[in-house]
This record gives sequence, C-alpha cells and structure tokens, in this order.
Amino acid sequence: MTELENLPNVGQKTAKKLRDAGFGDIMRIATATPKELAVKAEIGEGIAEKIIAAARKIEKIDFETALDVVERRKNVGRITTGSKALDDLIGGGIETQSITEVFGEFGSGKSQLAHELAVTVQLPIEKGGLEAEAVFIDTENTFRPERIEQIAKHFKLDTKKVLKNIYVARAFNSSHQILMAEKVNDLIQEGKNIRLVIVDSLTSHFRAEYVGREALATRQQKLNQHLHTLQNLATTYNIAVFVTNQVQARPDAFFGSPTKAIGGHVLGHAATYRIWLKKGAAGKRIARLVDSPYLPEGECVFKITEEGIVD
Ligand SMILES: Nc1ncnc2c1ncn2[C@@H]1O[C@H](COP(=O)(O)OP(=O)(O)OP(=O)(O)O)[C@@H](O)[C@H]1O
Ligand SMILES: [Mg+2]
Repeated sequence: MTELENLPNVGQKTAKKLRDAGFGDIMRIATATPKELAVKAEIGEGIAEKIIAAARKIEKIDFETALDVVERRKNVGRITTGSKALDDLIGGGIETQSITEVFGEFGSGKSQLAHELAVTVQLPIEKGGLEAEAVFIDTENTFRPERIEQIAKHFKLDTKKVLKNIYVARAFNSSHQILMAEKVNDLIQEGKNIRLVIVDSLTSHFRAEYVGREALATRQQKLNQHLHTLQNLATTYNIAVFVTNQVQARPDAFFGSPTKAIGGHVLGHAATYRIWLKKGAAGKRIARLVDSPYLPEGECVFKITEEGIVD
C-alpha cells in the first residue's frame, strides 16, 4: 500500500491533517472532490486538486474498458433478503458497489428489511451472506436488538456474535447522520470487515430540518453530499449501501408513477436499485422493483414474521 507521505505536496503535517479528516487511504482521496478534501482537511483547494490527481494516478482511476467493468463487477457481492422471491426480483439479493433504496409508507417493512440484512450479511457466502459485519445508522430510534436476536436464531447463528458484528450509530440530526456515514471509513481503517451500511431512515432528518420551499435547495444539496459519501463507501470498499425512505401513499397519484414525488430527483438518480414496498392483505408485503439499470421491472410477495422476512 502506498503511504500518504509518498504523494507530491504531502509532508508529515499534511499527511496528519488528511488522516485526521478521515482520508487515511489513497483510494479515499482519489474519490474525493477537491472542495471536499480542502474543507475537511483544511488545506488549500489548489493543493487538494494536485493531491487528488496524484492519488487517482496511483489508483488508476481513469477511463476503463468495458472489460475492466466486467472484471470489477465480478467482485460484486450479494446479500440475501431472507425471501427467495424478493432475492430473485432484485437479481439475487442486494448488491455491493451500489446503493439500494427501499421506499414505502409507514409499517411497510423498510426497517424490518434493514434488520434482516444486518443479520444475513453475516451468513457464509453459500447461505447468501458475505461473512461480514454491518453498520446500522439509526435516525428514528427504531433499531431493536431483540429483533436481531429473533432473526439470528432463525438462521441458527450465535446471537451474541451477531449483535457484536453490528455497529449501531444513533444519529440525532442530519449533520450527525452525515458525520456517522463518514466515520465508517475509520471503522474500515481499524480493520473491521464492513460490507453493509444501512441508513434507516435516509430522509427523515432532512425532511424535518429543511422545511418549506426556500430550504429545498439546501436540503437537496446536503442530501446529495451524504449520498456522495455513501456511494464512495460502496465503490471504494465493495460495500452494499441500503437506505430507507418513507413516502406517503398518494391516492391522487394512483395512475401516475408512484416514484415521482419522492425525495426529489437527487435520490432518484443516486440509488442504483429502488424497491417500492406496499402493505398487502394478511401481513403480506408486495415489493416492486423500479428503475433498475439492467433488470426488468417486476413484483413479488413476501411476509414479515417473528423469524424475519420469509416467502
Ligand atoms: N416480530 C414481528 N413479527 C411479525 N411481524 C412483525 C414483527 N415485528 C414487526 N412486524 C411487522 O412489521 C411492521 C413494521 O414494519 P417496519 O417497522 O419495517 O415499517 P417501516 O416501513 O420501517 O415503517 P416506518 O416508515 O414507520 O419506519 C409491523 O407493522 C408488523 O406488521
Ligand atoms: Mg422504519
């Protein structure tokens, strides 16, 4: 691995600034914007630009051929949702190197799915996991370790071990939420094998804090910055990012696209996979895949039980 000190314009002092700001590895620098690096590490923007350019050279961030893309995509990992039908709908489970957004009204199962994935990512690969750990950024205080235990038992896993492999951050406001996402870099640098980052809910703080038309631009800009951090985590460390987004059922939009009015366009473009959850009869849930880059739109049915998500 290349040391920061080997980058041009980086002496011991700048290296320390970079490390303290969470830019401890070259790849992390290579995927930053000059402005981001300048502000966070408190260095000049011109210097930041040069450092980034050098880091990109080292990490060979440049055009790549489609064959390179194929190679990179070979490393894509998948995490089972617990339901075979839902896994099939989204191409075999939620993907690393991508952001998956699940949206739906209250009680539609978004947080349940988040809890399920925090467990299944720990499963061995042949069982649909990645033998890895999870970060759970909880903005609504709805994370429940009891629920994790129930799901872990269903998979016959050691509940204590499973709980120890989930790093929970309670985010009190949107700035705190943004900060916690950035701190995932530190966990990884400490050697934690994080392959799943959950943000439940992605949008609630932003909605509550930026109210009204005049706040809309700022809200989208902050949300965009947050999503940029999450996308960086996904691509830099081959992580699956899973975010939830509450939307109200809009009867007036019944015939239109249900996805139009949600979270603004920033979110729509940032998420690679978008899953719409609906409540059905008798505890059933309907999931619909929307806007996938290569999978057909479709629907499936699953159920939420004491044991977690099942067919
Ligand atoms: N132990 C359990 N056994 C069976 N079903 C459960 C259990 N726990 C929760 N559920 C189901 O999950 C629903 C709650 O889903 P969840 O908390 O995921 O909703 P959500 O989409 O996150 O909603 P919100 O937008 O309010 O956060 C409950 O209404 C219930 O139907
Ligand atoms: Mg929830």
